[in-house]
Amino acid sequence: MSTSRIKIAPSILAADFGRLAEEVVAVERSGADYIHVDVMDGCFVPQITIGQPVVEAVKACSNTPLDVHLMIVDPDRYLESFVEAGAAVLTVHLEACTHLHRTLATIRSLGARAGVALNPATSFEQLRWVIEEVDLVLVMSVNPGFGGQKFIDSALRKVDALRALCAQHGVFPEIEVDGGVSAKNAEAFGRVGVDVLVAGTAIFRAADYAQAIDEIRAKAQLGRTLVDQGVEVV
Ligand code: DX5
Ligand code: ZN
Repeated sequence: MSTSRIKIAPSILAADFGRLAEEVVAVERSGADYIHVDVMDGCFVPQITIGQPVVEAVKACSNTPLDVHLMIVDPDRYLESFVEAGAAVLTVHLEACTHLHRTLATIRSLGARAGVALNPATSFEQLRWVIEEVDLVLVMSVNPGFGGQKFIDSALRKVDALRALCAQHGVFPEIEVDGGVSAKNAEAFGRVGVDVLVAGTAIFRAADYAQAIDEIRAKAQLGRTLVDQGVEVV
């Protein structure tokens, strides 16, 4: 299992948009490893959220890498503009891509890291023939579209099996989970080998962002350590 520190990516979907710059700086100072930006088009998912100008504004107020999650149909149309706006990781949904291999190669050629997201109903097996082209796999633990939903626990088994697929291929993309993550389930995600935890509500609705981030990370790190020490899951 990886020895690097588990990363925390606060999702600004749960931030106060009226004070977005302040909110971004606050989570950056509180130990965020990525700023997770949820881009929704009202078509792939029901809501419309953030576009390139807002990504640019977030980029301008922070040095933390932007982890941009595109929940949009036909994302090829917008890869270049989101990388230009400041995405360090650009993640597309497998379900939204007709030629996923080409899309991932394009993201890398633009100088960003290529991510692919899987809805809860999508099998990780569909990544088998593109896994070498992927820098990050985002396993959705809710159906995308809204913050504040309850996590779907099949995501845990999916992460576990996905890690095995990656190991078979000798590649180690970061594995990220997104949706309903909190200090309550972070240990379980740590146990199955997650590298990055996205959390919106659990961080931005907490009174103390640093405490919320530390707690989620500590629980996840504990899960990983217990597995490394061979402690059985009860
Ligand atoms: C959901 C988004 C998530 C969302 C997570 O479609 O992709 O990033 O903001 O929010 P919480 O942590 O509140 O479930
Ligand atoms: Zn997201």
